Amino acid sequence: MNNKMNKIVSLCKRRGFIFPGSEIYGGINGFWDYGPLGVELKNNLKKIWWKNMVYEREDVVGIDAAIIMNPKVWEASGHTQAFTDPLVECKNCHHRFRADKIETNYCSDCGGELTEPKKFNLLTEVYIGTIEDAKRKTYLRGEITQGVFVNFKNVINSTRIKIPFGIAQIGKAFRNEITPGNFTYRSREFEQMELEYFIEPREEEGEKWFNYFLELRLNWYKKLGIKENNLRIREHTPEERAHYAKKAVDIEYRAPFGWSEFEGIHHRGDWDLSRHNIKYQDKITNKEYYPWVIEASGGVDRAVLFFLIDSYHEEDQRILLKLNYNLAPIKAAVFPLLRNKSELVKEAKKIYKSLKNNFVVIFDDRGNIGKRYLYQDEIGTPFCVTVDFQTLKDDTVTIRDRDTTSQIRVNISKIKDFLKIKLS
Ligand code: GAP
Repeated sequence: MNNKMNKIVSLCKRRGFIFPGSEIYGGINGFWDYGPLGVELKNNLKKIWWKNMVYEREDVVGIDAAIIMNPKVWEASGHTQAFTDPLVECKNCHHRFRADKIETNYCSDCGGELTEPKKFNLLTEVYIGTIEDAKRKTYLRGEITQGVFVNFKNVINSTRIKIPFGIAQIGKAFRNEITPGNFTYRSREFEQMELEYFIEPREEEGEKWFNYFLELRLNWYKKLGIKENNLRIREHTPEERAHYAKKAVDIEYRAPFGWSEFEGIHHRGDWDLSRHNIKYQDKITNKEYYPWVIEASGGVDRAVLFFLIDSYHEEDQRILLKLNYNLAPIKAAVFPLLRNKSELVKEAKKIYKSLKNNFVVIFDDRGNIGKRYLYQDEIGTPFCVTVDFQTLKDDTVTIRDRDTTSQIRVNISKIKDFLKIKLS
């Protein structure tokens, strides 16, 4: 891993964003655990996505389908057959690689010769039931998407929604990746945030909604703070496209390990609904047809990683995460200037408690004030509120801004309003 990635991985561990999965038993390749700050960042990201993609729209409803489904779903969707990556194996050390991700015919670990590529299915098998012999094989979902398609009729029949409309979902997916790596970027367990948008099966409709969602999703990342020159779009070649896609464009991020997929916009045509034999009936014309699907499929873990990388700055001997305020795990920290002055501690605790109901805030009285500021910068806390000796005279505190380090004095009665305005 390069230098910047090492710094991000170390920060994530040190400050409690992301830990290696099952670490005390030596870890497990491709699995990660989110710590106290990581879970806040991830939840904030999902909340913003849901607000923008569901609550703010009139044409989208949400669902939360089961992770394990009847195996017939995966046969019909084509995943048991075609959800594969090309695998090569070193004839010498037997290490395995993805053929499309290595550039030589020789193994990078020992220099041995590689086998011809063979198709490796990414679905993770599970066995359900209590009696050994009768245990039934199925799969952990390889994409969250199929849960939407199998519930298409249920959603239509239980809501007033009609085409064009979307079904949104956020949830875990599992892939037995041949080479997990680049920290959480390619994991075996990860979360997706997806919108499946159902439209009439007409070329102009397909093109219109494809372009619409591509622009919408690209702007979403920009609006949340990803630098424009670190974003690009790239169309898949026909060989690259997943088995269900008529057209696919990736939104990519310029990661330290190269341009990498953030989110995929896919034109799935009628692949899924026709395979599941689910038709839509237009209530006015009574016409029956298989709708087409335009999909915006983002990775929650990749987004968390890329927001961490993009917001990471080193300046004036400090490390800071310039995270968008809505994403920041902690919105404000409250300090007494000195921990051994009980009047200061008492007042700071009072302020902390009064803010706690409205904002995610923390209280800290460890070490000296300079170190506390540095700690908060490193975890991306936008504001630090400090109670000092002047507070005891005139009821004002200092509020320090993460990005500029400038401080202003604000009356205690105005802290809530200040934060509300700044964070909104
Ligand atoms: N339903 C369509 C679908 O699953 P995909 O391009 O295979 O499409 C969508 O996956 C998104 O899921 C990707 O853009 C990526 O953000 C995330 N993703 C896919 N595989 C991943 C993995 N192994 N680890 C982390 N995130 C992954």
